[in-house]
Amino acid sequence: MDIFERIKHNRGPLGQHSKQSHGYFTFPKLEGEIGSRMVFQGKERLVWSLNNYLGLANHPEVRKADAQGAADYGLATPMGARMMSGNTDLHEQLERELAAFEMKEDSILLNFGYQGMVSAIDALVTRHDVIVYDAESHACILDGVRLHMGKRFVYPHNDIASLEKQLQRAKKLTDESGGGILVITEGVFGMSGAQGRLKEIVALKQRYDFRLFVDDAHGFGTQGRTGAGTGEEQGVQDGIDIYFGTFAKSMASIGAFIASTADVVDYLRYNMRSQIFAKSVPMPLVVGALKRLELLRTRPELKQQLWTIVHALQTGLRDAGFNIGNTQSCVTPVYLNGTIPEATALIHDLRENYDIFCSMVVYPVVPKGIILLRLIPTAAHSLDDVTYTISAFKDIRKNLEAGKYNVERIAEHS
Ligand SMILES: Cc1ncc(COP(=O)(O)O)c(C=O)c1O
Repeated sequence: MDIFERIKHNRGPLGQHSKQSHGYFTFPKLEGEIGSRMVFQGKERLVWSLNNYLGLANHPEVRKADAQGAADYGLATPMGARMMSGNTDLHEQLERELAAFEMKEDSILLNFGYQGMVSAIDALVTRHDVIVYDAESHACILDGVRLHMGKRFVYPHNDIASLEKQLQRAKKLTDESGGGILVITEGVFGMSGAQGRLKEIVALKQRYDFRLFVDDAHGFGTQGRTGAGTGEEQGVQDGIDIYFGTFAKSMASIGAFIASTADVVDYLRYNMRSQIFAKSVPMPLVVGALKRLELLRTRPELKQQLWTIVHALQTGLRDAGFNIGNTQSCVTPVYLNGTIPEATALIHDLRENYDIFCSMVVYPVVPKGIILLRLIPTAAHSLDDVTYTISAFKDIRKNLEAGKYNVERIAEHS
């Protein structure tokens, strides 16, 4: 069949709903300054769906640094890939500062987190190596694993006994092949907010020879005493051999990095295809990232404010009887029972009648019959925002339980 012809009929798992959802549930436009209040469809809403954890997106010093970086260098500088012509002192300074912040020897900048993870996994393993990874890993890990030419074993999410079984299988293979084992997991899982069980995974190193690669996209800047991430939080930063953080969340920018030993970072510089064959991170982003990192290090009050909001929101929701699962991070999922049509009616009600904008997740990301409302508290929110939201959530739960969002039932009765 002609490819264009097939695409006409098979729109993909998300694309099949695009006609009904585009512009409202998918690809919505949030306008105005990034913060807790933004304009959606011409009206101001209370927004709980941005990973602007520390509220840096609109911090005056950040805005000033971004503007200065653009004025001084423009977007073109530097031209070319780092290896060929795109290296600068500031790129290297940022790498040194990120490494120091993560308590690692060195780090490498990545243009995008997603693409960087895929490429790093690809660069780190050969077909003799075995990858063992958590089943609920982010798409960038799954796609990196897909490139792997050797064996890969998956373990059920955060199931350490199963991980150990998979390590035993992996060890048998690598004993024969002479390869190594790479375990990949996340610091904070972005949907449920659960932390990866890094401490227990690191403890397994006493019995099995492996290297641990942690994607800490949601932990960087939010977890640990200094904000160095989930490894610091669990007291095992040293046990993480390769640490990944993105600028897309706490740093409210774009780009990412990997921190590790000087030797491994040097190897990645010369072997990561996403960096060798792509243009260097533009200078304004580097200048902006240096300022953000400085704020992360020197303004602990930003993280304190974030956690004040997180605790208030999570305690308030729990006290009101909501199921927020086992989150151990800022990510705050609210689990309700209902169908997909009910979920869309509920979100519509929340947006139009309560002016609350949050993200909704339904089957196949969560099991059938579950509606997951995902709230991302930030330092830019206030305690009043929390109180208002919990009260609105009580209303929509009551409506849901009373069948108010059951469109079919409503149609039958009208
Ligand atoms: C766990 C995780 N890893 C990687 C990424 C990708 O990072 P980036 O947005 O920098 O491409 C994301 C999302 O942004 C993420 O949530």
